[in-house]
Amino acid sequence: MTEPFLLFPDGFIWGCATASYQIEGAFDEDSKGESIWDRFSHTPGKITNGDTGDVACNHYHRFAEDVNLMSKIGLKAYRFSISWPRIIPDGIGEANEKGLAFYDRLVDKLLEKQIIPFVTLYHWDLPQALEDKGGWRNKDTAFAFAEYAKVVVNCLSDRVTKWMTLNEAPCVVHGYQREDSAPGAREPEKVINQIIHNLLLAHGLGVQVIRGNAKKQPEVGLVHNPSVKIPKTNSPEDTAAVKTAWFDANAWWFEPLYRGKYPEKLWREKRNDIPQITDEDMKIISTPTDFLGLNIYTGNLVEADHNRNSEGLKEVAYPREQPKTAMGWYINPDCIYYGLKAVAERYDVKKFFISENGCAFDDVVSYDGNIYDHYRINYLKDHFLSAYRAVSEGINLVGYFVWSLMDNFEWTRGYSKRFGIVFIDYNNSQKRILKESALWYKNIIEQNGIFK
Ligand code: FCB
Repeated sequence: MTEPFLLFPDGFIWGCATASYQIEGAFDEDSKGESIWDRFSHTPGKITNGDTGDVACNHYHRFAEDVNLMSKIGLKAYRFSISWPRIIPDGIGEANEKGLAFYDRLVDKLLEKQIIPFVTLYHWDLPQALEDKGGWRNKDTAFAFAEYAKVVVNCLSDRVTKWMTLNEAPCVVHGYQREDSAPGAREPEKVINQIIHNLLLAHGLGVQVIRGNAKKQPEVGLVHNPSVKIPKTNSPEDTAAVKTAWFDANAWWFEPLYRGKYPEKLWREKRNDIPQITDEDMKIISTPTDFLGLNIYTGNLVEADHNRNSEGLKEVAYPREQPKTAMGWYINPDCIYYGLKAVAERYDVKKFFISENGCAFDDVVSYDGNIYDHYRINYLKDHFLSAYRAVSEGINLVGYFVWSLMDNFEWTRGYSKRFGIVFIDYNNSQKRILKESALWYKNIIEQNGIFK
């Protein structure tokens, strides 16, 4: 019996994603300024194997070849980020024409190959000069971000129409909380809440600046990584438990964005640790957007629990045999469906993208020179099916970006974790090899669908 073929909506945008610091290299070329990730990776002991992004995939010099690979895979879209310190080396002040010229060439090359550029303005590489003035602790950074956004929009918006403000603001916060990512600080709760507020403000200001300055009608959104909650069973009790768990974990980000205020329940809990905010800030933060990008890799299982000391729910551990990726992240494809559903049910989001999903595995080059990453194909297939389920239930998911186009600098894990559908041979001048998953993805894109 042949399995049914599931067709995605017409014009579904299949793409891949990357980020500047993870692939570009050329860390001090063409007048680029230092970023917090340059500083952090150059600090001994911070990154696995002492790796740095100094060279990375050398994409800065090999972008044309990389776009040709994208075209070979048949990508409809490419999501990349812009390095702020390449554009404004000191964070504020004069723009660096050479930095702008790089993205200018990249965008032209993408358009030549009919690949839609999706530009992320901030994927974690803050200019070190701004960190020296407080970084995201300082509200001025949000305004500096708006100035930087304006420079980029002036340069690219005659050709770029898809804009993403910040990537995964919660992970930016981790850099101030856990010491294990840049800038590597450990701040008290009150400062953390101010940082969250400043990031939300930067997003809102970014939306306004893009709308106000774009030469072509823009579509603007945020890229966020929600904490995904998956009900252990379909029972109404577990479903209700998931709602509460979701709210507690995510509302501090979503309510200001979509309702213009911080959630009262969580506000009461934070009491003395609330940040300095104004009504004007909240208006800016809740400026309507055109879409929301969700980065989803996994999720937590939740069930109802009415024991005396519980809040009516508990997170359940995955069984020991539940498979994991090389990152140690549990594989549960339902994360895509439930990740989208939780947001779609609560907020009026016009369009969704899965702006990142993918997996790290310990790929090896086989004797014939190919990389047979069937485990990655299985992972992607199951997650695409989960996305299909959301689409078939009426959620307006319009595109999906696989993380990542190529193996790259996986932050604190350096080059030890491979997420790409293109293999990078770091020992052999960053030679690129399409993995089996890239060829498989090409087929999915061509058919705009998948066998169940
Ligand atoms: C996300 C990041 C991305 C990449 C993946 C694996 O949190 O946005 O840069 O590192 O995880």
